[in-house]
Amino acid sequence: MLRGRHLVKSDDFTVEEIESVLELAMQIKSNPEKYIKVCEGKLLATLFFEPSTRTRLSFEAAMNRLGGRVIGFSDPSASSATKGESLEDTIKVVSQYVDIISMRHPISGAASQAAAVSPKPFINAGDGKNQHPTQTLTDLLTIKANKASLDNLKIAMCGDLKYGRTVHSLAKAMSRYKNIEFVFVSPKELEMPQKVKEELVGTKYSEKRSLEEAIKDVDILYMTRIQKERFDDIKEYERLKDSYILDREKMNLAKKDMIVLHPLPRVNEIATEVDQDPRAKYFQQAEYGMYVRMALIMKLLGL
Ligand code: CP
Repeated sequence: MLRGRHLVKSDDFTVEEIESVLELAMQIKSNPEKYIKVCEGKLLATLFFEPSTRTRLSFEAAMNRLGGRVIGFSDPSASSATKGESLEDTIKVVSQYVDIISMRHPISGAASQAAAVSPKPFINAGDGKNQHPTQTLTDLLTIKANKASLDNLKIAMCGDLKYGRTVHSLAKAMSRYKNIEFVFVSPKELEMPQKVKEELVGTKYSEKRSLEEAIKDVDILYMTRIQKERFDDIKEYERLKDSYILDREKMNLAKKDMIVLHPLPRVNEIATEVDQDPRAKYFQQAEYGMYVRMALIMKLLGL
């Protein structure tokens, strides 16, 4: 039962619970008309203390498409956080106005801090460099739709693996499926954190510097942006920002049925010429994010 629960980390739900969310998302996608009133009278708060296009707008589109309504902010400077109000107080107050809360915050751990005081279902929409569990649900749905199963996959994750919350969440989630193998492709400075690797109990992984080498035999290539906003030293960012650029030439090295995912936004790490390749699934992935958030809202509200 997911009714009344929070989603803070990608392994807060069991594999079976995740499966139920993905199944409902596919049902909604195939017959959206059936769900246009299920959230009538319900209110979602979107509290975004950090910029977002996909996550915030797909949450808002999801609630609107379910017949519910949305309040919130996308600019924290317009909230009373600027007057010194604590995150806990903000959540305690907002939870009296709404039925469900989604929040993005620049500080790692802010989501568990907020969930701990929320009497209403709370969804982590990304906290610092920690976790982004609704992106993971989006990724799992896209993988399942394209590969039929979440088992028996070799997955390369490429780019900023140190600060990338999407890859931290996805690696943890995918490690629970059968016969999964990861290839982590990054510069030395942006390697997958030791803590995340230690949590992949029993799952094979290797670390590489070369995308050309890694791309040859994987089923999924998960590209990520080198995130300027996470660097303290801008010179370090400038030095690393062009470490990996996926282009048509590199795509020619990959399997015919490999798929390319990216949580987006991208800067230049995927050349736009790759968008025409049928293996490029990142815009489909963004679309699926809305359906999976519709399903998640319904499940947490017990509808
Ligand atoms: N994928 C993702 O989280 O995108 P936004 O930052 O635009 O929400």
